[in-house]
Amino acid sequence: MTATASCCSSPVAWARPRAAPASASAAALRVGRCPAVAVAVAAPDVAFHPDVSRAAESLQAEFRAVDRAIALNSSRVAAAFRRARVAPHHFGGSTGYGHDDGGGREALDSVFADIVGAEAAIVRPQFFSGTHAIACALFALLRPGHELLAVAGPPYDTLEEVIGIRGSANVGSLKDFGVAYREVPLAADGGLDWDALACSIRPETGCAFIQRSCGYSWRKSLSVADIHRAIDLIKMQNPNCMVMVDNCYGEFVETSEPAMVGADLIAGSLIKNPGGTIAPCGGYVAGKKHLVEAAAARLSAPGLGVEFGSTPGHVMRSLFQGLFLAPQTVGEAVKGGLLIAEVMSAKGYRVQPLPSVPRHDIVQAVELGSRERLIAFCEVVQQTCPVGSFIKPTAGETPGYASEVIFADGTFIDGSTSELSCDGPLRDPYAVFCQGGTHWTQWALVLSDVLKVI
Ligand SMILES: Cc1ncc(COP(=O)(O)O)c(C=O)c1O
Repeated sequence: MTATASCCSSPVAWARPRAAPASASAAALRVGRCPAVAVAVAAPDVAFHPDVSRAAESLQAEFRAVDRAIALNSSRVAAAFRRARVAPHHFGGSTGYGHDDGGGREALDSVFADIVGAEAAIVRPQFFSGTHAIACALFALLRPGHELLAVAGPPYDTLEEVIGIRGSANVGSLKDFGVAYREVPLAADGGLDWDALACSIRPETGCAFIQRSCGYSWRKSLSVADIHRAIDLIKMQNPNCMVMVDNCYGEFVETSEPAMVGADLIAGSLIKNPGGTIAPCGGYVAGKKHLVEAAAARLSAPGLGVEFGSTPGHVMRSLFQGLFLAPQTVGEAVKGGLLIAEVMSAKGYRVQPLPSVPRHDIVQAVELGSRERLIAFCEVVQQTCPVGSFIKPTAGETPGYASEVIFADGTFIDGSTSELSCDGPLRDPYAVFCQGGTHWTQWALVLSDVLKVI
């Protein structure tokens, strides 16, 4: 139900009203007052499933903590925009080679680097995805004879072909270029194995790779404090070993970022956290200046550098605006995850992370235990989405993935996981990985329906 006119925002309707309204029509309109005009605003009449309402009630302290992180991150972002003197002329964009760029490209790179505490950044719509940005960063860091060491267990599925541990030979994987690969398995508790890490770096280890978020593994996501400790351990063994962090899904969840604690390069996607649901495409690499330049050379070509590549004006503005909004959209996604964990664990499902524990990424996994339940969960999410709500998600093959994967993403930006979305590989333990939502109540609506079907 919508307000007939409003200059005040209506109260957030996230708990079931204490007294049931006598009738829908009587409850429909209340008169509110703004300084200038009297307006009619909608009554809070969204009745979530009682278990969802109760869970939301119990999470108020956690939600306040998330709001504090949003405020701190928003303040850091706004300060970076001010320092770079972002202005409308930066949104003009460019065409062709991008030589006629009016300063937007440089301002965006500089704002981003400032926000994540890096010397430099390259933020571009030409990165197809997070995988592409991470691949450019890895190829910037590694040379034939080097070893890549994944220190947080296996990396995300789509990186297997980049590394060369799956897929065809001679497609230009790291393995094809003579880069070896090794893993430090996670400890029994799903976190980093500190003892193993303390003696894992060899002279040929050119890059230690840290995946911040869980990916499709049932593991803990890493805090920035954990990443800091891991970087110190790695650099103590060999200061020349570069540290690269897959930052996908982690940006703005905490109030610091891996580049602030010594990561040499970080990379991620703009249709995840830092695009604020507004960026239509793209990715980023940030870190030490000479390494960012090497990643840029891999994205384009050696010699072309970072001052190259056009971005249409409407895209340029969206990248700035999305970045500005990102702390909020990430915060809402974190609240959604907290609610999912609370509701689903109360129903007896295993969840990762556990309810009420501090979050390090926006992903909330729920072990559903069967193919049917995983599909049913995804169907409810798809039905609640604004785009393609009538589409039945089906599991299928997706480029980059070995397993069949099902995605529910009725999103304005294709595949945007900052918008309401969930997905999961069709393999044991049939876990669904939920993320996004521009407001946590979207998950309250989904969960209210989920509880009816599984
Ligand atoms: C931890 C992690 N890294 C990398 C990726 C790959 O990102 P993209 O799908 O943008 O290629 C994902 C995707 O979900 C992920 O979860």
